[in-house]
Amino acid sequence: AKEPVRVLVTGAAGQIGYALVPMIARGVMLGADQPVILHMLDIPPAAEALNGVKMELVDAAFPLLKGVVATTDVAEACAGVNIAVMVGGFPRKEGMERKDVMSKNVSIYKSQASALEQYAAPNCKVLVVANPANTNALILKEFAPSIPAKNVTCLTRLDHNRALGQISERLNVPVSEVKNVIIWGNHSSTQYPDVNHATVKTSAGEKPVRELVKDDEWLNGEFITTVQQRGAAIIKARKLSSALSAASAACDHIRDWVLGTPEGTWVSMGVYSDGSYNVPAGLIYSFPVTCKNGEWTVVQGLPIDEFSRKKMDSTAEELSEEKALAYSCLT
Ligand code: NAI
Repeated sequence: AKEPVRVLVTGAAGQIGYALVPMIARGVMLGADQPVILHMLDIPPAAEALNGVKMELVDAAFPLLKGVVATTDVAEACAGVNIAVMVGGFPRKEGMERKDVMSKNVSIYKSQASALEQYAAPNCKVLVVANPANTNALILKEFAPSIPAKNVTCLTRLDHNRALGQISERLNVPVSEVKNVIIWGNHSSTQYPDVNHATVKTSAGEKPVRELVKDDEWLNGEFITTVQQRGAAIIKARKLSSALSAASAACDHIRDWVLGTPEGTWVSMGVYSDGSYNVPAGLIYSFPVTCKNGEWTVVQGLPIDEFSRKKMDSTAEELSEEKALAYSCLT
């Protein structure tokens, strides 16, 4: 039998946490034959609620779940973890300045970076979900210098899946037949959802999305804004932010990273830029990646037109500004 994998979820008493931990315990993240031990971290005001989640995990009697650690102690939470899904953070409240929210999250991610560095298993893979996701991931990476940069990523898979979903709805085809959309840049409304290389499997073979949709105005306009603003639309409808889709996307991200992407398919991940596609190095930026043997590789050589270039640059610009703001909080 396989050794259990230890998976940390921070902010586990929150909305996404509540949707995510049962998925992990059912094998959605790491496979139906992979036992897991869940480590759940939250802050003291949420300790009682966190314990309630632990009680429900016991009550659900998940066969793959070999243990649960529920704690408000960061060191205990990080001890020996192989995968860390960072969902905990400080939310933006009405009337708060951007800098104040950034400052709270910078201090959270700085201290959790040190804890992961000290206590996590070697080669621990990190996925940051909490917003501002790219910049939180960057701070985590900077303050955990012994964790390889390639092990620190952020979630843009939800945006990627949203883009697949919009194409599927528009063409009235199963979402499983659509692939290779790209989310470039920041997990924010400046992200660029790109369909220029996306295809759909049809009875007549694989066809480019542009050829099937036959409506460039929609693809260059409403499609992009719908994906960019989907988070806000969910909040408006649910009075709560996306949780089940975010949790599902987090599972997709880790599963593909660990177990590999299917041949001929790429996914979007926020990763540390090496300067590919002339994206400034040193940002956590969402790229198209393929995964194999537990490592991601940016898909190279895709032709980029002028329309795309502008949008890729403006989301990079926003990330550079966020980075500067984050650094200004450190002093
Ligand atoms: P939530 O407010 O329901 O849960 C957040 C949890 O984090 C709370 O239980 C809170 O007590 C905890 N927390 C706060 N500070 C913490 C700390 N220092 N250590 C550990 N836990 C801490 O929020 P929800 O809806 O679960 O969302 C979580 C985060 O994910 C938010 O930042 C949200 O903006 C972000 N998000 C990101 C998405 C993405 O695609 N990247 C999609 C949806 C949400």
